[in-house]
Amino acid sequence: FNPPQIDLKKYIRSIPDYPKKGILFYDISTLLRNADAWQIAAARMANGVAKWNPDLVAGIESRGFVSASPLASALGCGMIMIRKPGKLPGKTISLNYDLEYGQNCLHIQEDAVKPGQRVVVVDDLLATGGTLQASIELLRKVGAEVVGAAALIELKGLKGREKIDVPLHSVIIYE
Ligand code: PRP
Ligand code: MG
Repeated sequence: FNPPQIDLKKYIRSIPDYPKKGILFYDISTLLRNADAWQIAAARMANGVAKWNPDLVAGIESRGFVSASPLASALGCGMIMIRKPGKLPGKTISLNYDLEYGQNCLHIQEDAVKPGQRVVVVDDLLATGGTLQASIELLRKVGAEVVGAAALIELKGLKGREKIDVPLHSVIIYE
């Protein structure tokens, strides 16, 4: 893919004090609703991730699904859903972790991957890194080889990258 060089930040809206006072919320709705900008963002993510040669793309509920699905299609990969509690049927494995604002728990199906399958895990936003790293650990527990992580937005100041123990590709970076 050879996406045009446009500034994707123009399409992201920041909303102060949401969902709590003191949090600056980066709203990707305005990017998603622009067909060209969203296509370019998805292509940039695919370009950054292709070198890891994944078998599967894992998306993190809920905003991670939005980026993971076009990425899986672009790379010809299957997709795994890492979900919030009570959403996945069959046997699951779960992990609790701290979030920038609150606590969270994620689940994965025990049979989500075949042993040694190469998985890239995807989310919309890397803040403190808790969500992505918890997802990496869940994937490993079910036998995945986690070959990389991708985020549409990275909030560099929160140093989430330091928590992630696989290579990380982010499309849009805020200092
Ligand atoms: C947000 C965001 C990331 C996570 C990033 O998800 O979509 O998944 O927080 O934060 P972290 O790097 O500090 O862990 P959230 O749980 O708010 O919900 P959503 O994706 O369902 O909207
Ligand atoms: Mg999320």
